[in-house]
Amino acid sequence: MAKKIQAIRGMNDILPEQSPVWQYLEGTVKELLASYGYDEIRMPIVEQTALFKRSIGEVTDIVEKEMYTFDDRNGDSLTLRPEGTASCVRACEEHGLLYNQTQRLWYTGPMFRHERPQKGRYRQFYQIGVETFGMPTADIDAEVILMTARLWKMLGLTDQVTLQLNTLGSNEARAQYRDALVEFLGARKDQLDEDSQRRLDTNPLRVLDSKDPATQALLADAPQLHEYLDDESREHFDLLRSILDAAGVQYEINQRLVRGLDYYCKTVFEWVTDKLGAQGTVCAGGRYDGLVEQLGGKPTPAVGFAMGVERLILLLETLELIPQEVLNTLDVYICPVGEGSARAALLLADQLRDEHSWLRVQTHCGGGSFKSQMKKADKSGARIALLLGEDEINNGTVTIKDLRGEAGQETVAVSDAGDWIAREIF
Ligand code: HAM
Repeated sequence: MAKKIQAIRGMNDILPEQSPVWQYLEGTVKELLASYGYDEIRMPIVEQTALFKRSIGEVTDIVEKEMYTFDDRNGDSLTLRPEGTASCVRACEEHGLLYNQTQRLWYTGPMFRHERPQKGRYRQFYQIGVETFGMPTADIDAEVILMTARLWKMLGLTDQVTLQLNTLGSNEARAQYRDALVEFLGARKDQLDEDSQRRLDTNPLRVLDSKDPATQALLADAPQLHEYLDDESREHFDLLRSILDAAGVQYEINQRLVRGLDYYCKTVFEWVTDKLGAQGTVCAGGRYDGLVEQLGGKPTPAVGFAMGVERLILLLETLELIPQEVLNTLDVYICPVGEGSARAALLLADQLRDEHSWLRVQTHCGGGSFKSQMKKADKSGARIALLLGEDEINNGTVTIKDLRGEAGQETVAVSDAGDWIAREIF
């Protein structure tokens, strides 16, 4: 036998039994986004490599170590998108969507990062992202955070996630802070872990992210980002906080939260859970007022976030928060046995769909005994089975069997079947 080819490590199939949960989550998010009047945008999965280098930052983990980059047949360097923000800005600029107008957009799809796969961390993973453009004030920062809080409520996750919030200040304030931090840490370089020593030269704010206990201890005495905030950023943050307070959304201020992508300024946030182990950030984002200009457009304020679909699904599964009706995908399973029954069954299925468009009906195809078909009916999760045997075909009837409830079994005229089911069962 030929050797079987397997999927690439960290890239997962989403199997039929998992799809209902994906559809439930995606459906709930789409409902949420519609209720805020956000519009969908779809971008290509592949972009020019330069787009990500220029936006995410040359000295970030993503660009340095994690991108799937290759030369196409023309010799152009292309990259499988590691995130959606850069592509979204590129698309909006290219199509004039940012000229004298505001935008509230969302997208979903796979992203690619060559990270070490583990639970909740994959090399192909799905994000649902939101990006807004043209609004400089903290009301829109608040709106996108309130939107995520509403989603947790819809999914039953409110008590399972906490909001970490920070402000990075203006680019100038951050540059001043960076200098102070470099001076402080530079004088104590030998006490830093290896990764932080390297980051001190390339991307010093990322040292704040270090998980190393000795580095963390050192940081306790380091200059604090908030001491360097400019007035405008401080007021911006105060307004955001006052709206979140008024809306009853709780948060923790985390001055060490700097995010792994370079384009942020002012507001940054992450929703984290302690139920998923090391990969506990389910949603993250912030403001990126400089990015549009950095990519060649006019200065345009922007704020957004992205959530990790696999992580949210893991969380819903771990906490058993998936409603049972989501997992049942069928209402009726039709079992035909004997001469002429296949034709009758397919016509009956269509009759039921015509009469009650909400009914989910499947017809058994491929033959087999009543016994084997009934087993399939049971396994299908359908609420009822419809039996079409020789007697039923001859009499123009169908036998209805309630597989889960108290309604028992009843033989009715085929023409009455739809109404009987709707009345007695659903
Ligand atoms: P990010 O923090 O890199 O931000 O990713 C956002 C979310 O995607 C994470 O919080 C996590 O839930 C999920 N995620 C990231 N990497 C993986 C992975 N390897 N496996 C599974 N899930 C993962 C961004 O991507 C920004 N573009 C967010 C943003 C939008 N900021 C402003 N607008």
